[in-house]
Amino acid sequence: MQLCYHSNQFGKDVMAFQPQLKILISRDEIAKAVAKLASEIRSDYQGKQPLLIGVLKGSFMFMADLIRHLDLPLEIDFIRLSSYGAARESSGKVRVVQGVKTPVKGRDVLVIEDIVDTGITISFLLDYLKKKQPASLKLCALTDKPSRRRIPVSIDYRGFTVPNKFIVGYGLDCDQRFRNLPDIYVLED
Ligand code: IMP
Ligand code: MG
Repeated sequence: MQLCYHSNQFGKDVMAFQPQLKILISRDEIAKAVAKLASEIRSDYQGKQPLLIGVLKGSFMFMADLIRHLDLPLEIDFIRLSSYGAARESSGKVRVVQGVKTPVKGRDVLVIEDIVDTGITISFLLDYLKKKQPASLKLCALTDKPSRRRIPVSIDYRGFTVPNKFIVGYGLDCDQRFRNLPDIYVLED
């Protein structure tokens, strides 16, 4: 199991350690992709009042940018799941740390994710939400890493397909770092 950079591994202060970041997707490319996703979502949800559920923490920046383009009477909520801890590999066990407060029954639900990797997290979440009987349930993922998939996932709105590398920035973290970067980078060992 690979671990992200933290003090235990290197015996250094986490903020002092400078890992190698290589740009993968620029802020301009992200902005264009977000606008394109939003225009598809806007036309598909005309006349509806969708409930957008962001998966914390990774989707917060994407969600914030996406909804600014959506001229719809939408609502937002967030769910927090855990499976990773400080590691880069999924433990395979997912649990709900903080559930959705908004009733899901009968709603047109659109899940907003930062990345679909093995698919374990999102399959768990889609099953969990399906049991709450939404009118419809779709998935919007900013990034997709299909080479790592272990459970098939159908992504309705996809921003980027990314290579089998660990990526950070624009909400995505490694051991809670780098979420604030405006671009997406590959974190190199
Ligand atoms: P999955 O269950 O393997 O699909 O993992 C999904 C979750 O793992 C995502 O929502 C992310 O929080 C995290 N994750 C997977 N791959 C990456 C990555 O390359 N960078 C940052 N987080 C990742
Ligand atoms: Mg996530």
